[in-house]
Amino acid sequence: MAEHLTLLGIESSCDDTAAAVVRGNTVLSSVVYGQTSLHAAFGGVVPEIAARAHAEKLDHCIEEALAKAGLSLSALDGIAVTAGPGLIGGVLSGVMCAKGLSAATGLPLIGVNHLAGHALTPRLTDQTPYPYLMLLVSGGHCQFLIVEAHDSYQRIGGTIDDAPGEAFDKTARLLGLPQPGGPSVEKAAQSGDPARFTLPRPLLNQPGCDMSFSGLKTAILRARDGVVAESGGLTRQDQADLSAGFQAAVTDVLIEKTRRALVQYLAMNPEKRSFAIAGGVAANGVIRDGLMALCAGLDTDFIAPPLHLCTDNAAMIAYAGIERMSHGEIDDLTLSARPRWPLDQRAAPMLGSGKKGAKA
Ligand code: KG4
Ligand code: ZN
Repeated sequence: MAEHLTLLGIESSCDDTAAAVVRGNTVLSSVVYGQTSLHAAFGGVVPEIAARAHAEKLDHCIEEALAKAGLSLSALDGIAVTAGPGLIGGVLSGVMCAKGLSAATGLPLIGVNHLAGHALTPRLTDQTPYPYLMLLVSGGHCQFLIVEAHDSYQRIGGTIDDAPGEAFDKTARLLGLPQPGGPSVEKAAQSGDPARFTLPRPLLNQPGCDMSFSGLKTAILRARDGVVAESGGLTRQDQADLSAGFQAAVTDVLIEKTRRALVQYLAMNPEKRSFAIAGGVAANGVIRDGLMALCAGLDTDFIAPPLHLCTDNAAMIAYAGIERMSHGEIDDLTLSARPRWPLDQRAAPMLGSGKKGAKA
């Protein structure tokens, strides 16, 4: 049944306004309007600016997605929308828009958890069978999830403070490198010496799969201040060495914690040897290569969806909606927007709040 369903997906939980049309496993269109330039002057996402931009852009974005798919609303089977977690103003913009469309057309409305969208992407792109282990690693999220079914997830670890993408962005800011920080720190690191500065590997020696990245950012601040105090400023080589040191520390933590998460997962599922990544940090070549090598050593398939489906997009929301709808799960106009919405209801709540809003 799922392969016949055609859904519009709507995503507005952070700083990307996105709409997509997906039929079964085929992405017919996927449109993303970013907001980076709107927030650039503020050093982070401003929730009110994001919400207003979503409200202004959603109609155009949806029209473009339908036009690119060559379909009208009447050709759809339903409308899937991110109902959380995220910045509440943005989530509300999307949910209200989807409700309006559903009320006007009579199409079923399906609320989707943004994290489920990321977590189910390997099924959209690679038809990965359940279960599999996922590392979701972005500017707002960092968690290990055992994806057991479209509505069943086990979180076996995650960050207790900042997400790695957030740490990359803050490090870039401290070093005077452009935003988004991930790509600029990765580029600078290519000509850097990762051993010049001694940086911590937080929680590396603690048991379990939890991670911490905020101390690393503070260590970079201290190291930078030390260089500035000594020589009056940062040279290009200082930037490169600090970037390389930071990236090596994040990579060491992510690889070792992923190794533990995989060993734990494989002990429970020795026949289902699949590991997938999602989120913007998955674009990092050094981190990706490290994870790939780790999987090869543990005889596990490494699934990395194409980058435009790893970062925030609405195709993953439409696809997660298809999985829900094919199980008869449909919402009505009482669907509410949720700032926090953990995928694993049994896991202990995560602390803190990232640049992209509440951590789920
Ligand atoms: O998934 P995403 O587009 O948005 C959310 O955070 O939800 O991820 C964006 C994050 C940013 O923090 C960005 O700096 C980081 O992903 N990122 C990277 C790289 N490319 C993007 N981090 C490390 N290395 C990269 N090459
Ligand atoms: Zn996301």
